[in-house]
Amino acid sequence: MEKLPNPFLSSGYMGSAYFCNRKLETGLLTNYMQNGIHVALFAIRRIGKTGLISHVFHPFQNSKKVACIYIDILSTQNLSDFTNQLATAVYNRFPAQKSLGKKFMEMVQLFRPTITFDELTGSPSLMLSVQTKAQKEKSLAQIFTFLDSQNIRVVFAIDEFQQILEYPETNTESILRTLMQQLKNTSFIFCGSNQKLMHQIFNSAKRPFFASCTSMHLDAIAESDYKKFIATKFKEYNRTIDAECLDFICDFTCLHTFYTQNFCFNLFSKQHAHTTLEHALETAVEILKINESTFYQYKNLLTKAQWNLLTAMAKEEQVFQPQAKSFIQKYNLGTPALVKRGLEALLSKEMIYYQSGIEKPYYQVYDKFLMRWLSKN
Ligand SMILES: Nc1ncnc2c1ncn2[C@@H]1O[C@H](COP(=O)(O)OP(=O)(O)OP(=O)(O)O)[C@@H](O)[C@H]1O
Ligand SMILES: [Mg+2]
Repeated sequence: MEKLPNPFLSSGYMGSAYFCNRKLETGLLTNYMQNGIHVALFAIRRIGKTGLISHVFHPFQNSKKVACIYIDILSTQNLSDFTNQLATAVYNRFPAQKSLGKKFMEMVQLFRPTITFDELTGSPSLMLSVQTKAQKEKSLAQIFTFLDSQNIRVVFAIDEFQQILEYPETNTESILRTLMQQLKNTSFIFCGSNQKLMHQIFNSAKRPFFASCTSMHLDAIAESDYKKFIATKFKEYNRTIDAECLDFICDFTCLHTFYTQNFCFNLFSKQHAHTTLEHALETAVEILKINESTFYQYKNLLTKAQWNLLTAMAKEEQVFQPQAKSFIQKYNLGTPALVKRGLEALLSKEMIYYQSGIEKPYYQVYDKFLMRWLSKN
């Protein structure tokens, strides 16, 4: 593949050359996959869940032993949409000219499929004509059981899985869970950007998916690995980058993958042969300026008390005890009860998140650029 003009992606996956580390996670997820273990992947937004799945699936693109099938169900509204998305992904993985693809098309004839082509991308979609509730469930079951019986290991990654909670079919969780239990050669990786809803689905003892999957948590990439990756990419394009500049990037973006990538993309696009701290400072100012209108929109969506709390949290970077007297007094935030309400609102609006599962859990602003902008203003 020809080199990309800029090696720092902030959307999509373009192969391992543009993917930083994640060696341990890749090994672990590959292992789970090959052993047919179901996985629920948890992490804060924009840290690299989807990227990790793409990276893990990549080597199996044309594998005859393992079929890795990815669907993103964010745009689906009901169980039929889900089934169509699934059928389309299977259709694309096994083209109709090949024997398995042929068999698959024969099987779905029962549901009178139509194939449409996206006007912009030309990519095909398969739509099954199913009307009744029973037909809908049957078509979904048929797709799963068909692949399960083909002498091939099948791994489905279902991204933005929390979307099923929006379906009018309120029993979607139990339908899927029941189907999952009947399959022998098929495993699932579930992930989603809304952690609260994902936790509700998988960690609530009353719900069908409880204890059905192995949980996997994805953290930020280690600083030394990220620095090495950034420096290597600059070098591959015959450029250099100063160590203090790398320090600044990691600190400014808190190693939150999307923001680190986006920062590096902007810095790299400046085309300096030798990149210094000064260039990084310039880039930071530019990024904050470009995003300013979005930040003001956030402000309009929050109450004054919520905005003040968010600003205080941005200035602190990590807040261990937001209801502590010292924090409240330092930023004049009113009463602990007011802060508690503010915290809940900011959490539910996903303006902040709670970093738990570590020795000293803390709250932090989600959007790292917003965090830097707030702390300066
Ligand atoms: N290991 C990595 N190396 C380089 N870039 C990465 C890596 N992981 C992710 N990225 C980049 O960071 C961006 C954000 O990652 P990704 O979309 O995978 O996050 P996510 O956790 O799925 O986010 P969301 O919660 O919004 O779905 C991606 O578009 C990708 O380009
Ligand atoms: Mg994602």
